[in-house]
Amino acid sequence: MNPYQPIPAEVVEIIAESPTITTYRFIPEQPIPFLTGQFVELTVPGVGEAPFTPSSDPAVADQMEISIMHVGKLTQHLRDKTEVGDMVGIRGPYGQGYPLDEFAGREILIVGGGVGLAPLRSLIYALLGEIERFKAVKIKFGARTPGDIIYKAEVEDWLNSDELELELTVDSDEDYPDWEGNVGVVTTIMDDPDLEIDSGVAVACGPPIMMKFATQKFLSMGYSPEQIYLSMEKNMSCGIGKCGHCGIGPYYVCKDGPVMTYDMLEKYSEVFE
Ligand SMILES: Cc1cc2nc3c(=O)[nH]c(=O)nc-3n(C[C@H](O)[C@H](O)[C@H](O)COP(=O)(O)OP(=O)(O)OC[C@H]3O[C@@H](n4cnc5c(N)ncnc54)[C@H](O)[C@@H]3O)c2cc1C
Ligand code: FES
Repeated sequence: MNPYQPIPAEVVEIIAESPTITTYRFIPEQPIPFLTGQFVELTVPGVGEAPFTPSSDPAVADQMEISIMHVGKLTQHLRDKTEVGDMVGIRGPYGQGYPLDEFAGREILIVGGGVGLAPLRSLIYALLGEIERFKAVKIKFGARTPGDIIYKAEVEDWLNSDELELELTVDSDEDYPDWEGNVGVVTTIMDDPDLEIDSGVAVACGPPIMMKFATQKFLSMGYSPEQIYLSMEKNMSCGIGKCGHCGIGPYYVCKDGPVMTYDMLEKYSEVFE
């Protein structure tokens, strides 16, 4: 089979999450099973293709949701031109997802920022699907403003959930007089005296600058590089370890990642570029 051949998929729902992020729900012509944290290549006919991490529940293979920040050619075309009923292509999944078996029995600290909550929503669905396997799930999520918080319905559910803990922060609440949560970057809410750091794992996903400071904070809190799981993004082309576009040191992010532990990456200065 041609590894570059995408599966046709219909856009069945378009959900505006924030001024810059939209979630698209697709029904592919055949199921696309994936592990949480793996990515797919999304083809928009006549425009091109780009890598995205499904934000939906990996237990549901006959449909897929992808949450997209509109930053450039393909993602802005999706925002401006794509409608329910349009066809796209999806190939994959590719790469390494979150190793849930290694997380079993441990406390999981999850830190996310901006569109980084997209892969993390999929991870949270996967964890909630078998929550008894994990000691505790603690999530710290940062957005630019209260209006930039995505997945508002799920966030509300998670804030009221007995199965996990969620804390939110925003960089600025200037135009939001009703905001009662924390104001400050996400590292300001990462300290938690009840965390079991020695036996736990720490997960981060977000823009490179957030990942850099979150990783420094994890290290200062006492997590070792092997305990820190980062969802890496590099410019990609083939997605299958052939073209060399996505290298970090000896690794290809498309094959050895996107989920990678910091001990694999700490020697390479380009990690957070
Ligand atoms: C494994 C992986 C998973 C991803 N998951 C998601 C996701 O779930 N949601 C989401 O919104 N985005 C995700 N991205 C980023 C997404 O692939 C880019 O935003 C997209 O390729 C931009 O395409 P464009 O044609 O709209 O932008 P372009 O016109 O190509 O570029 C516009 C801007 O985006 C930057 N850019 C382009 N490609 C990338 C890239 N691959 N990574 C980072 N910056 C890029 C460029 O430097 C430029 O500043 C992921 C990237 C990777 C590698
Ligand atoms: S995208 Fe081609 S080697 Fe990774």
